[in-house]
Formats: sequence, C-alpha cells, structure tokens
Amino acid sequence: MSDIIPSILVKTRQEFEEKIRVVEGLVTQVHLDISDGLFVPNTTIDGVTEVNSLDTELNIGVHLMVQKPENHIGRWLETPVNKIVVHAEATNKLEQIINMVKEADAQIAVALNPSTPHDKIKHYINELDYVHFMTVEPGFYGGKFVPEVIDKIKDFHFLYPDVPIEVDGSVNPDTISELAEAGASIFVVGSYFWHSDDKQKALDKLNELVSNK
Ligand code: DX5
Ligand code: ZN
Repeated sequence: MSDIIPSILVKTRQEFEEKIRVVEGLVTQVHLDISDGLFVPNTTIDGVTEVNSLDTELNIGVHLMVQKPENHIGRWLETPVNKIVVHAEATNKLEQIINMVKEADAQIAVALNPSTPHDKIKHYINELDYVHFMTVEPGFYGGKFVPEVIDKIKDFHFLYPDVPIEVDGSVNPDTISELAEAGASIFVVGSYFWHSDDKQKALDKLNELVSNK
C-alpha cells in the first residue's frame, strides 16, 4: 500500500487544530507545511508550540520551507515529529542537519524544488530516508503542477531504485498515476484532499489509482 499523506498549511493555531481533527481517523500520518516568508513568499504558524501542545495519535512530519533550516532543527527535534524535510536550496549545512536528525531518531528527507537537479544532493543520498520532490513551486496550496519534474523523478529512480521518493504539490487523480509510474511511492496531498467533500473517498481513489499503475 502506498502512502497518501494529507498536508496542513495554516496561519493560525485554530485552523491547525481543526485540520488535525479532520484527518484523525482517516490517516496515521500528516504533513505539516511550515514557511518563514523568506524561503517562500508565504508565512504559516511557527509550528513548534502548536505541535508541542497538541494531543493526538497522529504521526506528524514537518516540511520546513524555511531559510537556513539548521537554525530551526534543534527546536523541532524537541517536538514529537517523526519526519523532517529540509530544502537543499535553503542551506549549505546538509551534513550537519542530517546528523542531528538521525541522532534524534527521526526520519530525514531533503526536498528539491522543481528546477533543482537531483545531483545537488548526490553526496547525501545514502544517508536519507527518502527524497522529497516538489512538483509545484513551494509555499502554497493549489500551486501549478510542473510536468518536467516527472523526468527528473524517473531519472533519479533509475539511478537510485532503492531510495523512496515522496512527491508534494498538485497530487490529485490527474497526476498521481504518472507520478507513481515515474517511481514515487509517498504522496502528499493538499487541495485535492481539502476540497473533497468525502475525504475518505478521495483517499481511496488516490490509493486505487496508485495500485492500478
Ligand atoms: C506547498 C506545500 C505542499 C502543499 C500541497 O508548497 O509544500 O505540501 O500543501 O498542496 P497542493 O496539493 O494543493 O499542491
Ligand atoms: Zn509540503
């Protein structure tokens, strides 16, 4: 079974808790988008205080769309998050970040923006739990799918068939089959999930499309 993971990108604690309550019972893992207004032109909740005060059984992974994630990682590693995604474009301290996250027994992935080649992270690939490919420009719900990323994913998957691939951005019934065929096995879903009236049905549909790929 593939992993379909709803994303939460919010500006207030209230919105955060509302969305958490919606996904509880539907999935076991959620993707929390955090942005600082510097790395991307949007700001979200800070996230650390909200996650620390949350009572939930959900596993939370955090996608840090922030400049210099090395300055944020320490605080996040004191929260219950189990996965951390940092951007290759946002730091020149990847080695240090990877080591910190591993020492804390959390999972680490590096995200690549649509135009960033995967060879930017070639020295780190064996140390990562998975690689996170952005299929839209990061920062917002509802970004435009960048089809050129499909070839980048195929190429990466050919070179590193054992490294799990997560995709994030405009994942929906129109795009998911092609992404799965290219090699993705973990799918972050924002707008399609949140705009679906029947969210269980939306997840089932995506799962079905992935298993029929
Ligand atoms: C935005 C975030 C994504 C976003 C996906 O860049 O990183 O996780 O929540 O939302 P959709 O599916 O609407 O592109
Ligand atoms: Zn994200």
